[in-house]
Amino acid sequence: AQRKQIDKVLALFRLTQEQLVGVQDKMRAELEYGLKRDTHSLATVKMLPTYVCGMPDGTEKGKFLALDLGGTNFRVLLVKIRSGRRSVRMYNKIFAIPLEIMQGTGEELFDHIVQCIADFLDYMGLKGAQLPLGFTFSFPCRQASIDKGTLIGWTKGFKATDCEGEDVVDMLREAIKRRNEFDLDIVAVVNDTVGTMMTCGYEDPNCEIGLIAGTGSNLCYMEEMRNIELVEGDEGKMCINTEWGGFGDNGCIDDIRTQYDKEVDEGSLNPGKQRYEKMTSGMYLGEIVRQILIDLTKQGLLFRGQISERLRTRGIFETKFLSQIESDRLALLQVRRILQQLGLDSTCEDSIVVKEVCGAVSRRAAQLCGAGLAAIVEKRREDQGLERLRITVGVDGTLYKLHPHFSRILQETVKELAPRCDVTFMLSEDGSGKGAALITAVAKRLQQAWK
Ligand code: BG6
Ligand code: GLC
Repeated sequence: AQRKQIDKVLALFRLTQEQLVGVQDKMRAELEYGLKRDTHSLATVKMLPTYVCGMPDGTEKGKFLALDLGGTNFRVLLVKIRSGRRSVRMYNKIFAIPLEIMQGTGEELFDHIVQCIADFLDYMGLKGAQLPLGFTFSFPCRQASIDKGTLIGWTKGFKATDCEGEDVVDMLREAIKRRNEFDLDIVAVVNDTVGTMMTCGYEDPNCEIGLIAGTGSNLCYMEEMRNIELVEGDEGKMCINTEWGGFGDNGCIDDIRTQYDKEVDEGSLNPGKQRYEKMTSGMYLGEIVRQILIDLTKQGLLFRGQISERLRTRGIFETKFLSQIESDRLALLQVRRILQQLGLDSTCEDSIVVKEVCGAVSRRAAQLCGAGLAAIVEKRREDQGLERLRITVGVDGTLYKLHPHFSRILQETVKELAPRCDVTFMLSEDGSGKGAALITAVAKRLQQAWK
């Protein structure tokens, strides 16, 4: 009887082929809404023009600073690009962003960022250098050019005040002015998906999609200009940051959301928003697991029916724990040890159930992400009138990189849902900072050509 109750919960996370096709179709519809002028403001997939119009061609060169904010780590980088040989050298330093800064005032946040830049320049012996800077800012921004980006709303773990509706490039410039120690030329602001696409595009020109499955979930891709109604001109292509994490915010996937998804949403910093992201990304999967474990414990099916203080604590299951728990090489005893480290006293039975719960949640995440990606590649195939499409997706993110099954299930799902597309997945080894520097190099060249 206990087994039946557990299976009933796990079954809520099993999606049929039909349901996945449904997700794919709805994603496709939202993408189209987002691109059209009349429906753009209603679309839950924001489809933001990035003003990035081409891939690097190998002629880029120079020394650049890059900032990379919004993932697990905040980095400052120095990127040296040599033309011709396509060789890039990078030096970087990771800095912490304390919680009180992520959720303090905007001024504090940007002052902190500039403090980190100052430390980095010092460390590199570059004090006083005047370098062009590319800013990877992994949040939804409305852009009117490559060097302007108005933050639409914070996502993931950030909630600094007085930033939404403001141009983040201006905020960075002002913080640099306040410090009055160095001068930097902020040339480009890019999303991490775009940086990732560029990083991979430098090696493989067929890379026209950037995917992040990490703390958050998002995708960008090269779209035909004629389909982008919000931007003048019909020639060539432009990269669109889909911000697909917001897919479902109008309730269109509520049929597959569970009570646990709703609880996670309600307990988050941005209730009601980023519903697809909350089912598919590292920051939330562990929370879904925790909600299920609480419920199973309440039903007396786990942990001897005792809900410990630990289990009540938000954020205990980070992506790296889920990844460890689901590793096939791990004996159950080791699963128990991990749970113990988390402060959860489990029996052998418990550890089996926990592992099953983790598996169900991450499998659904990978499938949903795959259904979204299938919608994009199919659209690209149809738009180009091709029988078959060959395309490369540049991918980054801790969930994709660390989880033992996520990437495989994602790829299988895309194959099933978009059988006429040959999708190559290319792991980004260098993060999105490298791509941001490449974009900066191109933008700088164009800037000078205009002068
Ligand atoms: C990194 C990028 O490699 O991947 C970041 O440079 C990005 O900008 C990140 O946000 C996504 O992964 P995660 O898991 O750290 O959110
Ligand atoms: C969130 C952000 C998005 C970013 C993604 C991955 O969804 O809104 O801009 O690309 O996380 O980091």
